[in-house]
Amino acid sequence: MKIVKTSSPGRINIIGEHIDYNDGYVLPAAINLGTEITLELNESADSCTFTSRELNEHFTITLKNLEEYTPGWGRYLVGAIKSLGDKKEKLTGFTCEISSKVPLGSGLSSSASLLCSFIGALNELFELGLEKMDIVNAAVNTERKHVGVNCGIMDHFTSVMGKADHAIFLDCLTLEYEYLPLDLSEYELLIINTNVSHSLDTSEYNKRREECGLALLKLKERYAEISNFRDITESQLAACKDILTATEFKRLSHVITETARVIEAKKAIIEKNFVGLGELLFKSHDSLNLDYEVSCEELNFIVERAKTDANILGSRMMGGGFGGCTISIAAKGKSEDFVKELKGAYKSQFGINCTPLSLGIGDGLKVLS
Ligand code: ADP
Ligand code: GAL
Repeated sequence: MKIVKTSSPGRINIIGEHIDYNDGYVLPAAINLGTEITLELNESADSCTFTSRELNEHFTITLKNLEEYTPGWGRYLVGAIKSLGDKKEKLTGFTCEISSKVPLGSGLSSSASLLCSFIGALNELFELGLEKMDIVNAAVNTERKHVGVNCGIMDHFTSVMGKADHAIFLDCLTLEYEYLPLDLSEYELLIINTNVSHSLDTSEYNKRREECGLALLKLKERYAEISNFRDITESQLAACKDILTATEFKRLSHVITETARVIEAKKAIIEKNFVGLGELLFKSHDSLNLDYEVSCEELNFIVERAKTDANILGSRMMGGGFGGCTISIAAKGKSEDFVKELKGAYKSQFGINCTPLSLGIGDGLKVLS
């Protein structure tokens, strides 16, 4: 029986957080850990069985009744099939084995890597003729319509388009992008998993998006020249304090300052100004913590300690927030003491371990066989 194997990675994000859905710029990179999908035709016309090695669970559905019960993680897979539109008519029964090296629910986008790998595999096995951006869009639609996270495009774009040893400078308004060589010379990225994932994340995520949308409408009413978040200047925002709630004002402050920081960060990477890049990371964290309010005490704990260590140039929460990982820029080979002390202090503060992750920057979606 015909068989296809794909792999699509998780991602990190150097800077540009919570602005992919607010017309901003982002600077993510694909990691060298991904989700492998093995898709094999079975004898049946429409019976599909999914097995997740990580969760040690499986379930079966039929293509003609996609509304049948599935476990929580099945929403990604069944949703992905629904997101194919008319192309799903080309599908027949298959088995799907999932095996992932991306830690689940840690803000490294295991879900985007699962979706992109699965849609990529369907594309190969059933010759659907999807281009890379079709895969990205189908994955984004799945999360929005069938999982309920009104997410941006950053994770799925990176999972499909990533390039080894490069970050992606992505303009989320126009979808223009460029690859930026990520050579940090005597520095390195340090990713630390808080090992917490506070349950607020989906509802708060969607709420942030709504708050920003409402605030934008108010500014559009006042200024005819504003048609998207990118058009808002700091002085226009300051002049609109009277029509914005205090919360809306803070949310937009984050959007405007973070968008500007990504442009500065791109310049800093090109000029190898890693001290400058580090400062931008600390500023980004403060903005996400105080203005966007998506951090949590575990993330803040790590970043605050990083601020006091001379070997750490910058640090911030990464991804959706409310848990997950921090990203820091550290002097190469010199963060051992920081990590050791942090681990002890973190354990006595929260009663759980935080874990540094060993990651490289890898390629996007691949068909393995
Ligand atoms: P993140 O994408 O940052 O890892 P999310 O909470 O957005 O975190 O997505 C994690 C969810 O994605 C899991 O709870 C599960 O439903 C699904 N998922 C990801 N990888 C797998 C996998 N290998 N097997 C089954 N489900 C997975
Ligand atoms: C992710 C989401 C992305 C992005 C990010 C925050 O979880 O999927 O689209 O918004 O949070 O920058």
